[in-house]
Amino acid sequence: MSPGTSSMEYTEFTDPNLEILYSPEQIAARIVELGRQITSDYTGRDLVLVGVLKGSSVFHADLMRAIDLPLTIDFMAVSSYKDGTKSTGDVEILKDLSNPIRDKDVLVVEDIVDTGLTLTRLLDILDSRGANSIKLATLLDKPEPRINKELNIDYTGFVIPNKFVVGFGLDAAGRYRNLPFIGVVKDPEKI
Ligand code: IMP
Ligand code: MG
Repeated sequence: MSPGTSSMEYTEFTDPNLEILYSPEQIAARIVELGRQITSDYTGRDLVLVGVLKGSSVFHADLMRAIDLPLTIDFMAVSSYKDGTKSTGDVEILKDLSNPIRDKDVLVVEDIVDTGLTLTRLLDILDSRGANSIKLATLLDKPEPRINKELNIDYTGFVIPNKFVVGFGLDAAGRYRNLPFIGVVKDPEKI
């Protein structure tokens, strides 16, 4: 901020501490592409879109409207225990699915795959429930910190560099989920 400029000039969406990585238009266009691919792959199947709360809520809402098929939705909420900032891989289910997934074609919808440990545990948990298939869609893939290199992502919005991103559902300490774009926090100390 230049001297004499008041922070009152900025809003949440124009915060100068955020650098836009993907605009609302870029995200919308990519979700339409993913929706077309999923529509083609799941024709004639019994699709349930499982959103992982809270981060995937915005992507989940847009993705379902890009899939031109009969489908149902469900949600899970998990907490990853973090050791400092590192994911430890221990996952506690805070909210389980509302309906059984036996014989269903499950598409787990995530906001971002980082180390991959949260999803690995979540997929382990879902694996024992008799689904016909379980696949994974993520808006963002941050491959560099990946610990579980075997984790297979079936649908990816964007592959991003190893930076902390917010917006479009992703948060920093609960904030910024409502940004209509995906941005990089330039100085985390200024959050
Ligand atoms: P992991 O794949 O187990 O390391 O954890 C993934 C979870 O960590 C995601 O679902 C997000 O909630 C969170 N996360 C990882 N990277 C970021 C980021 O850049 N911004 C916001 N949240 C992130
Ligand atoms: Mg998440």
